[in-house]
Amino acid sequence: MRTIDWVDGAIELIDQTKLPGRLEVRRIGTVEELVDAIHSLAVRGAPALGVAGGYGVALAAKQHGGDADALAAAVRLVTTARPTAVNLARGARRAAARLPQGFDAVLAEADALRDEEIAASAAMATRGADLLTELCGAAPKVLTHCNTGALAAVVGGTALGVVAELHRRGGLGPVIASETRPLLQGARLTAWELDQLGIDFRVAVDGAGPFLMARGQVDVVVLGADRICGNGDTVNKVGTYAHALGARRAGIPFVVVAPESTVDVDTPTGADVEIEDRDGAEVITGVPAVNPAFDVTPCDLVTAIVTDRRVIRLDRGERV
Ligand code: MRU
Repeated sequence: MRTIDWVDGAIELIDQTKLPGRLEVRRIGTVEELVDAIHSLAVRGAPALGVAGGYGVALAAKQHGGDADALAAAVRLVTTARPTAVNLARGARRAAARLPQGFDAVLAEADALRDEEIAASAAMATRGADLLTELCGAAPKVLTHCNTGALAAVVGGTALGVVAELHRRGGLGPVIASETRPLLQGARLTAWELDQLGIDFRVAVDGAGPFLMARGQVDVVVLGADRICGNGDTVNKVGTYAHALGARRAGIPFVVVAPESTVDVDTPTGADVEIEDRDGAEVITGVPAVNPAFDVTPCDLVTAIVTDRRVIRLDRGERV
C-alpha cells in the first residue's frame, strides 16, 4: 500500500495522526485540505512531503486552472506549508514548472516524483544495508530515530528501509526505536511499521540513546534527513544531534540515509536552514514550552550519507 498517491482525481494518503490505533486512508480534494494535512502531520517525512508538494500543485491546477492569481496563491500555500524539509518546496516547484503545459503535464510530473521516490527507496535499502554490514559486520545492533519507513516515503523508506533490508538478509541485530518526543513518530509510527515487518524492536525514550550507545547496546545509529546541506550538515527530527554526539563519544558510526531529493547543495550549511518551530502545546500544556521540530547535526559528526545514487563517506573526507 502506498502512503500517498493520486487516485481518481484526488490525493489519497494514510492519515498518520490516527496510527497506530487505526489505518485510515484520507481523501484530499483541495489545496486547503492538503495544507491542513501537512500542518497536522497526517502526511509527513521528507520524501512523502515531496510527493505531496507535486500532487498539491496538481490539486491547485484543478481548482484554479482559469484564475492565474488564485493558482499562484494556491501553489504558494503548498510550497510553504512546512519550511524545513527541502523536498516539499522542491516537489511543488518541479510540478509548478509544468503549469504552462496544463493539468495533465503537472500530474505527470507529480507521478514521476512519486515513481522516483519509490525507486530511490529500493536503491537506498541495498546501498545502506551493504554499508552497515561493511561498517559493523553481521547483525549490527541498530538505533533509529523518528520515522523513516514507508510512511515517510511512498513505499519502503530511507533508514528504516535499510533496517528492513538487513532483516530480509537475515543480518539484523536488536533494534531500538527512539521514541521521538513530542509527537512520537518513533513510538507510534516506527514501532507500527517494525511490527508490520515482523522485526523485533524496543522503544527507548530519546534521552536514553547516548547512554545505550555508551553501554554497548548500539553498534550503529541510522536515521534519515529533512535536508542535507552543501557541507554535509544534516537537518533532521529534533533529537538527532544528541544521538550523533552519543555516537561520536561511543565511537560508533552515525549513518544518514536520504534520497538525492533531500540533498540541497544550494543551502551551504545547517545555519542557513529555517527550522520549523511548532506549538509548545505539543510538548506540554499548562506551562510554556519551546518546540523546535528539527535540529542540525554538524557534518563532522556524520560518518556517511547514503543516497539512492551514492555513499558519501564524510569520515574519509568525501564531499556532498
Ligand atoms: O516532522 P516530521 O515527522 O515530518 O519529521 C520527519 C523526519 O524528521 C524524518 O526523519 C525525515 O523526514 C526523514 S524521513 C525519510
